[in-house]
Amino acid sequence: MVCLGNICRSPLAEGIMATKVKEHGLDWHIESAGTGSWHIGEPPDPRSVDVALKNGIDITYQRARQFRPYDLEEFDRIYAMDVANYNDILKHAESEEEKDKVIMILNELYPGENRQVPDPYFGEHGFDKVFDMLNEACDTIIEKEIRD
Ligand code: 4NP
Repeated sequence: MVCLGNICRSPLAEGIMATKVKEHGLDWHIESAGTGSWHIGEPPDPRSVDVALKNGIDITYQRARQFRPYDLEEFDRIYAMDVANYNDILKHAESEEEKDKVIMILNELYPGENRQVPDPYFGEHGFDKVFDMLNEACDTIIEKEIRD
């Protein structure tokens, strides 16, 4: 799960997905990262912590890290929150296989529409809304996987 700072959106995505994976007994390994380096080592933004807790999910253990090109080898899928993250990740892809791993997360809900998870850091869009979007997207990802 990748966003810009790895303190608002992708920590929520990691926490939500890790919780669902556990509930479904799946053996997926979930991590998150940011394309930027400003917040390396920091815990998630308190507003993300709060909305997660309100929904029964603890993300306080997480610490921000920066996306590294090796993630494209190590992980089967890389979910980007917005177009900027998507393009920044894609720059590092070294093969068609690696390119295919990179997906805009809301395309799981709205295929081909390239909708973006709004950056809530500067308070323009609510953290509740971001939580709901990611929750729905993660449900869809898991449902698809279980069905196939
Ligand atoms: P995120 O939000 O990408 O969802 O973690 C942001 C966090 C910090 C900044 C930008 C976006 N920042 O500019 O520091």
